[in-house]
Amino acid sequence: MNSKITQTLFVLSSILVFFSCNIADKSNHLSKQETVFDTKVDSLMELMTLEEKIGQTTMYSGSGAVTGPTVNADFRKFIKASKVGAMLNVYSAKGTRELQKLAVEETRLGIPLLFGYDVIHGFKTIFPINLGLSASWDLEDIQKSSRIAAEEASAVGIHWTFAPMVDIARDPRWGRISEGAGEDVYLASKIAKAYVHGFQGDDLSKYNTILACAKHFVGYGAAQAGRDYHTVNMSEDELRNVYLPPFKASVDAGVETFMTAFNEVNGVPASGNSFLYRDILRDEWNFKGLVVSDYTAIFEMVQHGFAKDNKDAARIAMNAGIDMDMMGSVNRLYLEELVVENKVDIAHINDACRRILLAKYKLGLFDDPYKYANEAREKEVIYKPEFLGAARHSAAISSVLLKNENNALPLTSAKTIALIGPLVKDKENILGNWGAAGDRSGKAISVYQGIQEYLQDTRILYAKGCEIEGDDESKFKDAINIAKKADMVVLVLGEDYDMSGEAASRTNIKLPGKQTKLIRQIRKAVPNKKIVLVLMNGRPLDLSEEDILADAILEAWFPGTMGGHGVADVLFGKYNPSGKLTVTFPRNVGQIPIYYNMKNTGRPIPKNNPKEDYKSNYIDVANTSLYPFGHGLSYTNFEYSDFKLSAATIGFSDMITASATITNTGDYDGHEIVQLYVHDKVGSITRPVKELKGFEKIFLKKGESKIVSFKIEVEDLKFYNSEMVFGVEPGVFDIAIKGTSDFEFEHTFTLTESNK
Ligand code: GLC
Repeated sequence: MNSKITQTLFVLSSILVFFSCNIADKSNHLSKQETVFDTKVDSLMELMTLEEKIGQTTMYSGSGAVTGPTVNADFRKFIKASKVGAMLNVYSAKGTRELQKLAVEETRLGIPLLFGYDVIHGFKTIFPINLGLSASWDLEDIQKSSRIAAEEASAVGIHWTFAPMVDIARDPRWGRISEGAGEDVYLASKIAKAYVHGFQGDDLSKYNTILACAKHFVGYGAAQAGRDYHTVNMSEDELRNVYLPPFKASVDAGVETFMTAFNEVNGVPASGNSFLYRDILRDEWNFKGLVVSDYTAIFEMVQHGFAKDNKDAARIAMNAGIDMDMMGSVNRLYLEELVVENKVDIAHINDACRRILLAKYKLGLFDDPYKYANEAREKEVIYKPEFLGAARHSAAISSVLLKNENNALPLTSAKTIALIGPLVKDKENILGNWGAAGDRSGKAISVYQGIQEYLQDTRILYAKGCEIEGDDESKFKDAINIAKKADMVVLVLGEDYDMSGEAASRTNIKLPGKQTKLIRQIRKAVPNKKIVLVLMNGRPLDLSEEDILADAILEAWFPGTMGGHGVADVLFGKYNPSGKLTVTFPRNVGQIPIYYNMKNTGRPIPKNNPKEDYKSNYIDVANTSLYPFGHGLSYTNFEYSDFKLSAATIGFSDMITASATITNTGDYDGHEIVQLYVHDKVGSITRPVKELKGFEKIFLKKGESKIVSFKIEVEDLKFYNSEMVFGVEPGVFDIAIKGTSDFEFEHTFTLTESNK
């Protein structure tokens, strides 16, 4: 039957279905809308062959983030043969429109394609890397950054982003720590929700909202030795108390899709793990969205030694509940015969196809398959001034002032500055690892340009000093010369953008190349001049030597398209830094894993006697981190006082309110991220020495005070015990309100079983 007649029949049948079910169920809007979609999907699936259903479960990639339709000829052939349900790495209104036409106008049923892409921290307007964005603790700003990313991405034909990455990470050797929200469950869960709401908005049928994707389910950040794709092995209570919550938060936020992790979890690769995908995701959490494998992750189960061959991998993945095969071709090649051989239940394929079609209906692609491929909108939306302004603000509020002595910052009195380092004029690395469609050839504002805006050229002396990597010291001399001439030195050092992110684990987390030696030589040459170190990096670094050599250290991460302006706004005090670390900076790589809320052990090192024998410590370095979770300085000072609790004892049905007064005692107005921590002192399994259970970002003018209070529900104190029961246990809890995780508790409350 020619496609025109089919099209008409299909449209007519859908209209009939639509009107029929409008008469039906008058329950609330959401269920009616889902009923409408479900019924439409049912009627469409009745027309589909098994091969066409399998086609929906296959995703292919354009050749590397193409902006045009340079797609492998075979994939075009497969699209026309109804063997493809989605494409990734293809964008632009023109490019997506052309491929969409193949699917909609040259196939029997005209089912539109989904176009997915890694819009991780911006599409064209690139924001700071996600580890940087998390350091702002500003949920509103984080949501805004993903909303802007969705505005730009949806204007070039993208329906689906493979973000947010919500993997908890506590190992700086792992390059992908750069993509997440750090080490803390509570904060990472809040941030996950912000991203999902930003990308998906409040109505997926709008043309500027896109599907979000919680990835990588699960445990990827716990890869052994921080080596990417490596084995993950942990107790189920650790999985449930630490690694699962940000994914559950994404489901609660309405995330529409999930992506599998490359790693195995306790011997079973994630892409074939029915405990994860059927027992937890579907049965426990009632997730109804679609699950896509990571790139070729299904047939990698052969390498894992979990599948005999690619066909076996296809069997395992579909039976485990993985709906779509990204780039592996295993569903296309083997699912039909696996059904014939009764090795895959056709119901699983129907479920997978249904979830994929539902996503397309929710986006409105059946009403208008080309709604996202709008060239006029593409021109109008990309790099909007307000988007660039937002990126500049995010860069400023994401930076973390790690150290500031001798009033080195802000740069108010600087007459002539020596700007030194391989990243001073950088416009490429500044975008970070997932630079998406960001322009690495010149659009970004370098730190040099940012500082120029505050100073005239004549007052800036510049020398590169060295490269990011390599042993060349030939440029040291120029750098030392200008350091001697200037009033003060600002160094911009760090990593190359591809030293973090995927497949970029490092065993040495110091500054690469000769950068540390450069600082050492400069310090030697100008022992009494102020040295400010600005860092661009995608992971916590071992800054033990830099911490001694520099007067001030500003962690700028990779600050994005407007990074130079954002960093300069902080350096010159236009924005008083307020960022706080969401991941621990160790003293050296030997301490890893190190994070703020470890367990106490039976032999904790006494604070007042760090050298005591036979305690859980090292003989060559302190147990403490160099810079702890929650740490970040300001140009002003904030004093915490007058801690109060609404009760000393509460019952299971009560709540407790903790409050403290925060006063800006310094000379600058500024923001402070006030943090609430508790410690369950005794549990049926040992509990972390501290747990973040609340935070609030406040603004105080100099001299101003504010009372900040937090309500703690008993629900907030629950955890999974060794029997996997999620509950709370009576006992004494430490509690504190601070501006960092580095403190000793001074107050407690008691939770009793009796309901007062
Ligand atoms: C990559 C990454 C994943 C990304 C996907 C598509 O291998 O692991 O995060 O979304 O492939 O690019």
